[in-house]
Amino acid sequence: MSIVENISLKDFNTFGLEAKARYFCEIDSLESLRAAIQFKNQQTHDCLVLGGGSNVLFCQDYSGLVLLNRLRGIQIETVENDKVLVRAAAGENWHSFVQYCLDHGCYGLENLALIPGCVGAAPIQNIGAYGVEAGDLVSYVKVMDLLTGDIVSLSANECQFGYRDSVFKKELAGRKCIVEVGFELSQTPHPNVSYPALASELQDIVGPSPQQIFDAVCAVRSSKLPDPAKLGNAGSFFKNPVISSEHYQQLLEKFPAMPSFSMVSTDKEQGQVKVPAAWLIDNAGLKGEQLGGAAVHDKQALVIVNRGEASANDIVALATRVMERVELLYKIHLEPEVQWLPK
Ligand code: FAD
Ligand code: EPU
Repeated sequence: MSIVENISLKDFNTFGLEAKARYFCEIDSLESLRAAIQFKNQQTHDCLVLGGGSNVLFCQDYSGLVLLNRLRGIQIETVENDKVLVRAAAGENWHSFVQYCLDHGCYGLENLALIPGCVGAAPIQNIGAYGVEAGDLVSYVKVMDLLTGDIVSLSANECQFGYRDSVFKKELAGRKCIVEVGFELSQTPHPNVSYPALASELQDIVGPSPQQIFDAVCAVRSSKLPDPAKLGNAGSFFKNPVISSEHYQQLLEKFPAMPSFSMVSTDKEQGQVKVPAAWLIDNAGLKGEQLGGAAVHDKQALVIVNRGEASANDIVALATRVMERVELLYKIHLEPEVQWLPK
């Protein structure tokens, strides 16, 4: 385990923003993680686990220890009938893991292809796309305590998955390092083509195979989401807001074209409607809006991009402008999905 000091984080966040970490350590084993935790307990009290840096906004330098999670390994175990338990270490690249599962006949994650980042971050905000959320398929999440180094496994239920939410953003925020995730997948394909953009991409194929769904998801994503290697971004900057049905009905009188997503009908969500923040931003005339080096992406209004030389201040100022306009026009508060650091 080697700790380096005052390292630039520019290559470790997909916005490509300059920020320095006081201490930085790459983790490739549980032993090195424990040793890094000991160092952190002695030298500094703060630490931040980083995977692919695709959902973070570094607003300033980080004065604690950054732990770059590069734990590797994937293992498949048959459970019963057509069920398989696939274990993946937290530092595995998410998209490569989805591809691996598909290649090995383990199905369920196809709709989540091409999401940047690492396996270990997937449970944090319960990544979701095209009608599937990772939490639907998680069996357990193994974590190391960032104070004691103790390891425990949490069941999917204990993870409290919700829309872009989990226990790791609430009670356990900043307290655990996810080291491994177990997914319960199926050897029988159960295609989910409910998401309109995906259904439209696959309209000429009856009963698409998991590979065809994977390919279609990649095609749809590539057509609208900017590749962070070419244009810095962190995907959707805001969550899609959930509002009351009454509020939605009032807004429809003024904005009859306003779309809505159906919600899972749990008690908590009854009488509520999710609306696409991209539409709210686009309809407010903010698509392409620029501030300094930051811009609202011209193909997907929910994405804020770094046009090259943006500072964190540019991105924060543009995000604030978007939030204020949306609040004024629709009385809807947009909540950032991207993690602003340091907290
Ligand atoms: P990071 O950005 O490194 O970290 C994110 C947060 O998780 C931080 O708070 C970090 O401290 C914490 N964290 C990371 N790893 C661990 C760990 N092992 N243990 C404890 N805490 C940890 N998200 C979606 O849900 N759906 C999408 O469709 C989607 N599309 C995207 C498209 C683009 C082009 C981009 C750039 C992003 C997109 N995202 C999407 C957001 C992002 O890819 C996901 O949130 C992803 O899971 C982040 O992974 P990461 O490894 O980069 O996490
Ligand atoms: N729309 C516009 N203008 C735009 C883009 C979209 O009006 O510029 C409208 C369209 O009506 C479209 C609707 O918004 O039908 C929804 O757009 P899209 O299908 O692109 O999805 P989204 O709601 O913008 C969400 C996730 C994405 C995920 C996609 C696909 C959130 C915050 N974002 O985006 O996740 O990939 O659905 O499931 O829930 C991420 O979290 O980083 C992310 C990219």
